[in-house]
Amino acid sequence: MLKPVTVMCMAVALAACAPAESRLPDNNAFSPRVTELLASMTVDEKLGQLHQAAGGRSRNLNSRLTDDELDRVRRGEVGSYLHVAGAEPLAALQRVAVEESRLGIPLLFAMDVVHGYRTIFPVPIAMASTWDEADWEAAARVSAEEASASGLHWTFAPMIDIARDPRWGRIVEGGGADPYLGARMAEAQIAGYQGGDLSQADTILATAKHFGAYGVPTGGRDYGTADLSERSLYEIYLPPFYAASRAGSGSMMTAFNDIAGVPSTANETLIDGTLRGRWDFDGLIVSDWNAIAELINHGVAETRADAGALALRAGVDMDMTSAVFVNDLRQAIEAEPALLADLDLAVGRVLTAKERLGLFDNPMVYHQTARETAELLSPDHRALARDVAGRSMVLLKNDDNALPLTAGAGRVAVIGALATDAWTQLGSWRAQGRPDDVVTLLDGLQTRAPEGVEILHAAGAHPGNDDLTGIAEAVALAESADRVVLVVGEDYDLSGEARSRSDLFMPASQRALADAIFNTGKPVIVVLVTGRPLAIPNLAERADAILNTWMLGVEAGPALADIVYGDVSPSGRLPVSFPRATGAVPYTYSEFPSGRPADPDLGRDSNRYHDQPITPQFPFGHGLSYSAFSYGELSATSDESGYHLSVDVTNTGEYEADEVVQLYMRDPVSFVARPQLELRGYRRISLSPGERLTVHFHLTAAQSAVFERPGAWRIEAGELQFHVGASSADLRASASVNVDASGTSDVPASAIETRTEVE
Ligand code: NOJ
Repeated sequence: MLKPVTVMCMAVALAACAPAESRLPDNNAFSPRVTELLASMTVDEKLGQLHQAAGGRSRNLNSRLTDDELDRVRRGEVGSYLHVAGAEPLAALQRVAVEESRLGIPLLFAMDVVHGYRTIFPVPIAMASTWDEADWEAAARVSAEEASASGLHWTFAPMIDIARDPRWGRIVEGGGADPYLGARMAEAQIAGYQGGDLSQADTILATAKHFGAYGVPTGGRDYGTADLSERSLYEIYLPPFYAASRAGSGSMMTAFNDIAGVPSTANETLIDGTLRGRWDFDGLIVSDWNAIAELINHGVAETRADAGALALRAGVDMDMTSAVFVNDLRQAIEAEPALLADLDLAVGRVLTAKERLGLFDNPMVYHQTARETAELLSPDHRALARDVAGRSMVLLKNDDNALPLTAGAGRVAVIGALATDAWTQLGSWRAQGRPDDVVTLLDGLQTRAPEGVEILHAAGAHPGNDDLTGIAEAVALAESADRVVLVVGEDYDLSGEARSRSDLFMPASQRALADAIFNTGKPVIVVLVTGRPLAIPNLAERADAILNTWMLGVEAGPALADIVYGDVSPSGRLPVSFPRATGAVPYTYSEFPSGRPADPDLGRDSNRYHDQPITPQFPFGHGLSYSAFSYGELSATSDESGYHLSVDVTNTGEYEADEVVQLYMRDPVSFVARPQLELRGYRRISLSPGERLTVHFHLTAAQSAVFERPGAWRIEAGELQFHVGASSADLRASASVNVDASGTSDVPASAIETRTEVE
């Protein structure tokens, strides 16, 4: 309900007391309630709605919610808070907004709920490794149930930046290297966070971030320039954002960085032109932390007022923490009253988000403490976290079936400080996750050890420091054991925001530990812990098995035990390739062909490195199983609805196991070079030993369209080749179809979902 309006006048040059002149969208895009509110708001109240304040630092939530802060809320100077949490404390704050401010507009409470709230799931790059929409949606749903029970309305997730350079620390936060896979993950996560109906008490607004090319900073250095072609922008980096827009993402966040000199927070062409104009995105756009003020550092604005005007004009609605909108935009508006129209649009979108969440009708619905107690870390949520973690591990190598470890495996030395590092399993962005909630890798292996398996442990060395003094003890333990499970890699603090690395080898202490253990001559199973693809040539050569576990969340230990002891067959697949060396990145399976391909016959004059193969150590889509799968012929037909491809897949091994059947496309001749392969479909299937299933893929012609210019994609007549297989480098069957007629499409080709069926 709207409160009666009593205007308190403030001495400002612009007529702040009078409702501002407004230019609402011609099509009456805003609801009657929002329109009415806009008409009754002062300019200051409008500016206040656009301000998102920090209620605390990310590790010290609510700490800034002082009495002064409550007064700001009473005066209508804040529209939203981030880094806040808790049904009860946030109820008190919300009550001030709705009962003690002039217009009674509720606040939006936001947090980075990225891979879980209290029940922490595997980090996003690990989630991507499941290649499973059901997992992505279910984990986001649980995260929303917990976060909403704790008073939150809005998460800054999913991060859908495509990333092909593992030096970039934030590769851990996203869905990997591929626009098709990334688009699917974006859609599923948004569906999970937002549920079917945002006005329900257990749904939260999703934020697709960071629009538009944050994942491709020069040199992999966080926040750096993205200097890329228009083709790459539209074919690789933007499709997940298109998919997110179409999936109804309630908000998007602009990126910190610039694209070819235009900071995304001031990029009118991209935000207003492409996102809102062409793609009809109707959600809320928030800047990143302090990013509006940082337009001055970028050198595109001289003053804070200029910076505010640039961002507002570009289409940014809410200002995360820089306070430029609330403090400095007024000056820009006085100089350029036409900005009032942009102001109204921004405020209208903020109010619409609040309306969609049901906050005007029921502002206290997110503050039921009983629900908070029941939801957080419930047994069901933990069970899901364990299942998902099981599907996210990727078996990179397994010589002579070194894994699984079965009964009678004898004395097993679990070596590595990461085996007991609970913080690391929580990964980057842990919301309300606590190390005490984590079952560590060692705990899991110890608790579940089968008959005849004795688990021993020595820390050896930790990736966070150079202390090698524990290595001697670890070597002695390894020598006394029958085999070693070597837990090495990166700790949580080596990936994430502002944590880019120039070197993709494991930290020095981990390399020293691994070498010392390999030198014992014992069989070694490596459990790799990491937030990014690493260059691990030594492990690849010397280990008997490598299980890449990323960072697995609260159920890390039980999930690892499920795989190591053979209760679950590994089924994760790499969403990004692992390089052989730092100098070999960025790399993608999806490169354009060279006029001089790396071919032994061409020798030195080819597209190659002098010192090593150009192929990755482990390719995109790779992941072994305890079982084995055979593929039949790929059948391909076409009709008016598009292309139909089918393949039989049989479990020829001895384990019940999942296979991820991958479909790749190649357009052999086009008006511009096309990628050597492009992922165009996949399907996870579960098969018992001996079981066979048929997987059908249905594509439309628009899925082969090639970018010509924004909004125009060209469909060309001619041959299209398809391949199915177990990875981008393990193609098992091929077929071609003929595209009969040329045409156009206005949709990014890889954002379109291939329908799959299994029988
Ligand atoms: C900065 C990060 O870039 C962004 O992803 C995050 O949502 C905000 N900080 C808020 O914590």
